[in-house]
Amino acid sequence: MIIASNLKTNYTRKGACAFIDTVQMFMQNSHTSQEVRIYIPATALDTFDKNVQLRVGAQNFYPVQNGSFTGEIGFEQLEEFHITSILIGHSERRHILKESQVLIAQKFDFAKVKEVEIVYCIGEPREVREQGIEAVMAYLWEQFEGIDIHYTNLIVAYEPVWAIGTGLTASQHDIEEVIARLHVKLNAPLLYGGSVKVENIKDILSIPYCEGVLVGTASWDSNAFCTMIQVADTLEK
Ligand code: PGA
Repeated sequence: MIIASNLKTNYTRKGACAFIDTVQMFMQNSHTSQEVRIYIPATALDTFDKNVQLRVGAQNFYPVQNGSFTGEIGFEQLEEFHITSILIGHSERRHILKESQVLIAQKFDFAKVKEVEIVYCIGEPREVREQGIEAVMAYLWEQFEGIDIHYTNLIVAYEPVWAIGTGLTASQHDIEEVIARLHVKLNAPLLYGGSVKVENIKDILSIPYCEGVLVGTASWDSNAFCTMIQVADTLEK
């Protein structure tokens, strides 16, 4: 399974390095069989001495190799550190940073040409969830506009917007229903994200076709994140 941590706008360079060291040490000692991802802030990017099952990834980039885009991170700046996994379409970038589907699709195409792993995030806001499953699915499929769902290095993370960083997790039934419907059309591994924590990770990973989790808040404590990896190891999948 894929157990991913999104550090978001947390941790300095030094702190992120210590976080990665702790997780790496844990993975070595526990002989985990999980695929682990840690998405760190751009200022903390570096070449880490990683375990093969651990990839340190980027939370964002601008779809250019380099150029005049003040304040942005081009692909060249990721390649310097051999970054091979990237988050695209995260709800905070869609809703807070106002990224359009057009820009998201441009990022996707750029990353696809580079053949890196893309964790493509989708999720509905609360008002859509309140309209029922058909409205939710229609909204989610719109988020695939311009996206190559057959890309080999694609992972899809279903993250209901109202469950991100709120402590509210979608119900087991709601997650199961969406994941099952996504599975019908997508070959990519499917992850769930949205207030995943030590207390609920086992139930979430037990959902059919759910191949992992993308964790924000609860993963920022490296020990809790390691515990989540350990819980995944106890499940047969
Ligand atoms: P959360 O964030 O675990 O804090 O809800 C998840 C995410 O944003 O990927």
